[in-house]
Amino acid sequence: MRLRNNPKALDTLKENDKFVIMEPSLYKGKWLTVFDNDNPIHIEIGMGKGDFIYQLATQNPDINYIGLEKYPSVLATAVNKVNSLGCLPNVRFISFDAISLQDIFITNEVSQIYLNFSDPWPKNKHEKRRLTSHTFLPIYQDILKEEGHIEFKTDNRGLFEFSLVSFNAYKMPLLYISLDLHNSEEKEGNIMSEYERKFCQKGPIYKAVVRF
Ligand SMILES: C[S@@+](CC[C@H](N)C(=O)[O-])C[C@H]1O[C@@H](n2cnc3c(N)ncnc32)[C@H](O)[C@@H]1O
Repeated sequence: MRLRNNPKALDTLKENDKFVIMEPSLYKGKWLTVFDNDNPIHIEIGMGKGDFIYQLATQNPDINYIGLEKYPSVLATAVNKVNSLGCLPNVRFISFDAISLQDIFITNEVSQIYLNFSDPWPKNKHEKRRLTSHTFLPIYQDILKEEGHIEFKTDNRGLFEFSLVSFNAYKMPLLYISLDLHNSEEKEGNIMSEYERKFCQKGPIYKAVVRF
């Protein structure tokens, strides 16, 4: 996924500054000026190549979406895809590490967080890097509105179990859980990410929705 060898990635991002925000910290507390409306802001962390957020934004024009992806080279692929499919007024992309979310959002600025197929970081010594670890939960709690939800999907049983324990330790109510999303009623209306399309052939997809 990292597509490390794309020296032109940063140029691609800069050339598309209509929907790629190169200096996101400038908009901390002011994201609504970017979208020129006061619709709620939903973010996807680790958006990869962008299929999920693009489809979601197409279906929900009254929500503003911001996709974050750590690696410019991965984001550049999403940018090229948007250019071929057509730009949407309610989507912006940022090449950004979620550990610094509080540099770009103020308290209560975000209404919903999506985490799709986050890297599992299976070694214990890398636990803190998992996007559902106690490293990230206080950050999400700060930027999320009180009624805001986190929607988390994965194919990785170990990461799912870890995440449930992590949410529980942080006393986060579990609003929804599926141990086999694609064989549940929720399949209807489920939007698939690239990883989801790839891994749903190989085993169950797990989903949890939590809040603080
Ligand atoms: C396994 S991929 C899944 C991509 C996509 N969400 C999907 O479901 O197809 C995980 C993505 O999260 C990104 N990522 C990992 N840690 C991140 C972080 N701390 N901040 C932002 N993105 C991150 C990775 O670069 C990678 O593109």
